[in-house]
Amino acid sequence: MGFNHRISPEKSHCSPEKAENPPENDENGVTFTIEPSQDEASDSFESEKALVSTAENVDGFPTKPKKSVTMPISEETSESLCIKNTAMLKPSPSVHGNLENISSPRDWINGSLMNSEHTSFLDEAWENLNKSVVFYKGMPVGTLAALDPSAEALNYNQVFVRDFVPSGLAYLMKQVPEPEIVKNFLVKTLHLQGWEKRIDNFTLGEGVMPASFKVLYDSQRGKETLIADFGGSAIGRVAPVDSGFWWIVLLRAYTKCTRDHTLSEMPEMQRGMKLILNLCLSDGFNTFPTLLCADGCCMVDRRMGVYGYPIEIQALFFMALRCARQMLKPECGGKELMERIDKRMTALSYHIRTYFWLDHSQLNNIYCYRTEEYSHTAVNKFNVNPESIPDWVFDFMPLRGGYFIGNVSPARMDFRWFLVGNCIAILSSLATPEQATAIMDLLEERWEDLIGEMPLKIDYPALEGHQWRIVTGCDPKNTRWSYHNGGSWPVLLWLLTAACIKSGRPQIAKRAIELVEQRISKDGWPEYYDGKTGRYIGKQARKFQTWSIAGYLVAKMMIENPSNLLIIALEEDKKIAKPKLTRSVSWTC
Ligand code: GLC
Repeated sequence: MGFNHRISPEKSHCSPEKAENPPENDENGVTFTIEPSQDEASDSFESEKALVSTAENVDGFPTKPKKSVTMPISEETSESLCIKNTAMLKPSPSVHGNLENISSPRDWINGSLMNSEHTSFLDEAWENLNKSVVFYKGMPVGTLAALDPSAEALNYNQVFVRDFVPSGLAYLMKQVPEPEIVKNFLVKTLHLQGWEKRIDNFTLGEGVMPASFKVLYDSQRGKETLIADFGGSAIGRVAPVDSGFWWIVLLRAYTKCTRDHTLSEMPEMQRGMKLILNLCLSDGFNTFPTLLCADGCCMVDRRMGVYGYPIEIQALFFMALRCARQMLKPECGGKELMERIDKRMTALSYHIRTYFWLDHSQLNNIYCYRTEEYSHTAVNKFNVNPESIPDWVFDFMPLRGGYFIGNVSPARMDFRWFLVGNCIAILSSLATPEQATAIMDLLEERWEDLIGEMPLKIDYPALEGHQWRIVTGCDPKNTRWSYHNGGSWPVLLWLLTAACIKSGRPQIAKRAIELVEQRISKDGWPEYYDGKTGRYIGKQARKFQTWSIAGYLVAKMMIENPSNLLIIALEEDKKIAKPKLTRSVSWTC
C-alpha cells in the first residue's frame, strides 16, 4: 500500500484540523481527483439529500423476525425470508475512526446498543466494527480499512470499496439490520463515480468507481469534503476493476435485504450501473468473453502475475452481470443492455466453466495436449505447452476435487488456486453444482495447504526464488508465503462460509471459523498471516483490520442463520447452458 500525496495529512475524517484544498497536480505531475467545486447537494445528484438524510425512507418498513431455512435456496422463498426493518444508524458527531480514540471505550451507540463490558468475540467484533465507522455530514458512510494505533495510517484510514463489502453485509445481516450505512455508502460512492478522473493527462472511463475515499474536515469553512482515489494514488497506479462490480453486488444485497427497490430503481443508480457495465460490455478486439485486466486491479493490488484474465475479476464480473440483470429497468436503454448482458453471461459462463476448470482428468488432458493446432478444430485452443505445467500441480491435484485456475490466456495457464474467484464462482452460480461440490472436495482434500492453521490462503502456492523475482518484480512485501503471495487472510472467511453453505457443506466453514476463533482476537484482528500454514501474524499486517473483523461477523451470522446467505448468493440460472466437459480428442497418451 502507499498513498503518499500531500493532501493526505493522515488525519481522520473527524480531525478538527484545517483541510487543505486538494491540489490538481502534485510535484510529480500526478493528478488527483478532486471534489467538484459545487456543493455536495448539487444538481448533479439532486435527489441525494433526500436519499441519505431522511429517516422516513426506512421508517416505513415493517419489521419481521428472521426465519431459518435449509439450503438450497430459491428466489421465491427468499423474498419472504428477508428482513424489512425500522432500525437505522443514528447520526452522531464525527468522532469515529480517530486513531486517538482507539483505546477509549466505545463512544458510538447504535440501534442495537452494545455494552462495552461484554467480552464475547461477537461483542468485541461489533464494538471494533462500530468504531471504524466513518461519518460524513453526520451520516455513517463507510468503515475505515484499519484502526491500528501502532502503525502508520498510510491509506488504511480510508474507506475502501472492496473492504466495505463485508462491513455492509454485517450491518445488513445483523438481527436488527442497519441498512442506512449501506445506503449512504452506495449513494456517496455513486456520487464519486461522477467526478472527472484523471491520471497525468489521461482521463479514466466515466464508469470507474473509486478504490477508496476519505473525509477531510475544513475547520475554517466548517465543512467536510470527500477525496477519492481511483487508482491515481495507488501502488502501481492501477484502477480498481473490482470496485464497480462490488458496488453492484452490494446494491443488490441491500435491495434483497430491505426490499427497498426505490434505491436501485432511481435513475441515478440505474445510470451508475449502466456506466459500470458499459466499461465492460463495449465492443473491442476481444476474442474471449472474459475481461482483460492489468496486474493489481483487485484485492491483490500489487504486481503478482494476475494480469490478463484473473479468475477473481471474471467471477465478480459474472456476479455483477447477474445482479445488474435483476435490478435494471428496461427504460432508457436498459432493455438493450439486458440483451447484451444475457449474451455475455452465456458466453462468459461457457468460457470459464470450460477453459478455467481443472480437475484430475482435465489436468491429464492438458498434460497430453498436442500443440500447434490450427483452425477451429483445435482442442488445445490456447496453444498451451504441457511443458509449462508446473510440477506442484501434479502433486496438488487430488483424485477427488477440482477448481477454477487463476488465469487463462494464449499459451498461458496460471494454475494457482485463488480463493476469492472460486468462492464467488460458487456464490454467483458460475460454478455448476458439480463444480461447486468439487471445489469443496478440494478444500477438504487439501486442508493443510488451503486452510492451514489460520484461514484462509488468498492463493496457492507462493511464488519463490526466480519466479518471485520475475513475477512480482522482487516485491519485498510479497515474499513467499506472505501477504498476497500465499498469505492467509481472515477476511476470506465470509466468502468461504457463504460458498460452503451454498454448496451444502457448512461443516467445512464451521471448522475454519473455529480455527479463526482460537487466535484472531488475541492477535488483535490482523489483516493477514504469514507462513505455509498461516501460523505467524503477517510481517506488515495491520491490527484491527476492519474487514478481518467484519468478515468474521458475517461468517458467524451466516452459519448461525443460513437464511442470511440469500442476501448475497444467487441461485442457479437454468437458462445459462452448461458445457459438456468431454475428454479431449487430442488425447495422445
Ligand atoms: C491492501 C489489500 C487491499 C485492501 C487494502 C485496504 O492493499 O491488498 O485488497 O483493499 O489493503 O485494506
